[in-house]
Amino acid sequence: MNNASRVENERAYLVTGGKPLKGEVGVSGAKNAATKQLVAALLTDEKVTLRNVPAIGDVDATVEMLQGLGTSVEFSENIATIDASNVKTPEVAAAFSRKNRIPILLMGPLMHRFGEARIPMLGGCKIGARPIDLHLEGLRKMGADIVCEDGFYVARAKRLKAAAIELAFPSVGATENLMFAAVKAKGTTTITNAAIEPEIIDTAMLLQSMGALIHLDANRTWVIEGVDKLHGADHRVLADRIEAASFGVAAALTRGQVFVRGARQADMLSFLNAMRRVGVPFTVESDGIAFGSAENYNPVIVETGTHPGFMTDWQQPFVMLLTQANGVSIVHETVFEDRFGYTEALVKMGANIQLHHDCLGSKDCRFRHQNFLHSCIVSGPTTLKAADIQIPDLRAGFSYLLAALMAQGQSRVTGVELIERGYENIIGKLTGLGADIKAE
Ligand code: EPZ
Repeated sequence: MNNASRVENERAYLVTGGKPLKGEVGVSGAKNAATKQLVAALLTDEKVTLRNVPAIGDVDATVEMLQGLGTSVEFSENIATIDASNVKTPEVAAAFSRKNRIPILLMGPLMHRFGEARIPMLGGCKIGARPIDLHLEGLRKMGADIVCEDGFYVARAKRLKAAAIELAFPSVGATENLMFAAVKAKGTTTITNAAIEPEIIDTAMLLQSMGALIHLDANRTWVIEGVDKLHGADHRVLADRIEAASFGVAAALTRGQVFVRGARQADMLSFLNAMRRVGVPFTVESDGIAFGSAENYNPVIVETGTHPGFMTDWQQPFVMLLTQANGVSIVHETVFEDRFGYTEALVKMGANIQLHHDCLGSKDCRFRHQNFLHSCIVSGPTTLKAADIQIPDLRAGFSYLLAALMAQGQSRVTGVELIERGYENIIGKLTGLGADIKAE
């Protein structure tokens, strides 16, 4: 496609900055729970109903992928009803590999059904190498034979068997993948040093409702006793704490006041601590969290980490907030090695952000001495000016919207389909708070 036609077909948001966001916004269901739970429904032939499923691009892509396998999925008004009794193939179509990283999670469910799974190589946000060695190692320990053939991972096992698996890093995806394999494997599987994010606990709750024997033990250990059969269930997806935090930052940055209905304090403790240190006022209420704003913000040191640490997906809006703090802040990204590329465009808009290879902050991480620009120094406050900006990935996308919402003048933001992969009705929600944003 040449440049002219690319620009012609490109969708964009036009954002005029300077308006304080005020009012109330409801949090949608969590993308990173809903998409996995749609996959979990393939572990049974009975009907699974999921409520509070966000209408976003990644859910649509997952639904389409499941339908491609022969699953019947009805999705409307945030309710998905999945009936996998007619799944007819162990092969996920190659087209889905470019959309996101959900296909790999089908390995267990498809092996349980067919003794085989054929999964195309993965896509997803460009935020580092994102290998899947931990997924494959764990599945191999459970008896799967996995090879790469013509752009597909082909995994085979007549019946998966339990194993004691210790993850080298508490990977979210690997933990979920192994859980789906373990719930119907022969024997009791333990996954140690596993991820324990609230979204994973929510998925474990669905699995338990479906008849699984699963619990969380000391030392980040999931203990899963395999059962022969799972049954249907009705489950409500938990609230999206990434979206909730994004709106909290939006209130603070635009010097507004936003009640984020449905935000759950329990899932956001480290984010709320960081907001308090910066000087953003907030009040926890029974049905959500009210975020306010202040004239001046304090610089802070933030290091991302696995749960219960500060989420890597909160990092991008938070960096935006730090551009408005009085002084020098440090952000050390310890989950993904390449998650600061998005700051280049912010610097062009006037932000003062420098990237570093060193582990700045209080701890060394696994990226030490590896030449990755995984720390940054943000000096503020800075005035941002409007710009034409192209979104590089989903979470960076929201921080670009934040930049545009506080910049002087009108910005044109492209690559918006990346934001729409993960944020439901983003234009409706922002305009409901008084933002000047419209689709071009
Ligand atoms: C999930 O990605 C989320 N995606 C990400 O959110 C989130 O940022 C991430 O978890 C961390 O919380 C979904 O849930 C769809 P990981 P995932 O496996 O599962 C390394 C968003 O915008 N690793 O926990 O891919 C990996 O390279 C997205 O919603 C291995 O080395 O994350 C990374 O450095 C972006 N080998 C780290 O672990 C493996 O086999 C964390 O990855 C697997 C992972």
